[in-house]
Amino acid sequence: MANNQTPLTEEEKKLFGDLMPEELEEIIDSGLNRRHFMKLIGLASAGLLAAYVVGAEQALARGVALDVQEFPPAAVENAVTVNFKINTQSVNVVVDSRMTLLDTLRERLGLTGSKKGCDHGQCGACTVIVDGNRVLSCLTLAATCEGRSVISVEGLAKNNTLNPMQAAFLKHDGFQCGFCTSGQICSAVALMKEAKEGQASYITSNIRQPQSSITLSDDEIAERMSGNICRCGAYPNIVAAIKEAQTGKAVEQTWQFVG
Ligand code: FES
Ligand code: FES
Repeated sequence: MANNQTPLTEEEKKLFGDLMPEELEEIIDSGLNRRHFMKLIGLASAGLLAAYVVGAEQALARGVALDVQEFPPAAVENAVTVNFKINTQSVNVVVDSRMTLLDTLRERLGLTGSKKGCDHGQCGACTVIVDGNRVLSCLTLAATCEGRSVISVEGLAKNNTLNPMQAAFLKHDGFQCGFCTSGQICSAVALMKEAKEGQASYITSNIRQPQSSITLSDDEIAERMSGNICRCGAYPNIVAAIKEAQTGKAVEQTWQFVG
């Protein structure tokens, strides 16, 4: 089995060295595990992580090395081999023909950024981008992705540089628990292409008039993102983030620190 270890950058070493000095060696040797993650979450709730947010962006947004889980064909029922690109890297993976893209990403490729919310196509948490269009990976069979290009949230940042949409979500605090966030961000990134191509939505007026490129209003953004549910209700911040990423103009934050 391939080594799944992505070496830490110097910034990440510093971040973890400051936050969790006693675990640094272990993190370097074996990567972040659940215990470290829970500690990070604890620090985030205590506000301490905010002071390290630049390093945290890098630590939490960076792509990961792929670890394709190889199973002997006998262990996979109805095995099919699927070859597709994931975050620009080609993979050849043997899957059960009934396996969803979401399970393939999470269970076979170790890409756990895409979340399983409802597993029924109702929440949008599992949204990824296939050939430029957003799809619900819980309703997409991996076998249908042969020869396609799949982008998950892990593929949006380039090295240590966030995708502008990720940066805008951070700036506008477009997440609270964060469980829906990878789907929201993938959806929002693909939304940019839809707007650029002038694709109409349910509330676009005069759909008979072909449009070249649409600058989205708040209502248009809300309508087009309505398939992505956020149970924490970060919607105003998400709309502000998408608006800023689409127009390239700073949108005033709807929140501020007090005290
Ligand atoms: S997990 Fe796919 S839509 Fe909810
Ligand atoms: S940030 Fe919690 S569900 Fe969206």
